[in-house]
Amino acid sequence: VHVLNGPNLNLLGRREPAIYGTATLDDIRATLEQRCAERGVSLVFRQSNHEGDLVDWIHEAGRVHAEGRLAGLIFNAAAYTHTSVALLDAVKGTGVALLELHISNVFAREAFRHHSYLSPVARAVVCGLGVQGYALAVEAVAQW
Ligand code: DQA
Repeated sequence: VHVLNGPNLNLLGRREPAIYGTATLDDIRATLEQRCAERGVSLVFRQSNHEGDLVDWIHEAGRVHAEGRLAGLIFNAAAYTHTSVALLDAVKGTGVALLELHISNVFAREAFRHHSYLSPVARAVVCGLGVQGYALAVEAVAQW
């Protein structure tokens, strides 16, 4: 399972805790490592504030997918969800099975968060479950 996190998610725990909670990205990583270990699934977990890094990492997941070794890609693209044709094209170009994830319920927030470039190419979307969504997403993707 590959888990990618986009811009500002390195600030989790301090960033708008009323919306995103108090768990840090390291807390999430630790939980997922445990879940994956229990299932005998290996985990790649990354964060970047740079769009190009995320494109490169989707390509990398695509190579693992092509080798038949990728269960799925869990991707919280954060603000790039609402702006990035490059990330959409990367997912389309690689054919990875995508689970789009958001900690908050983006549909209960500003209108600019209601549109996602990724949803049309996502196999599933998890949104509004808080950081618990990551663990639930891993449970689902591990069975893909
Ligand atoms: C987010 C929602 C996005 O709208 C926002 O830009 C983020 C985080 C979420 O996890 O709820 O940075 O993807």
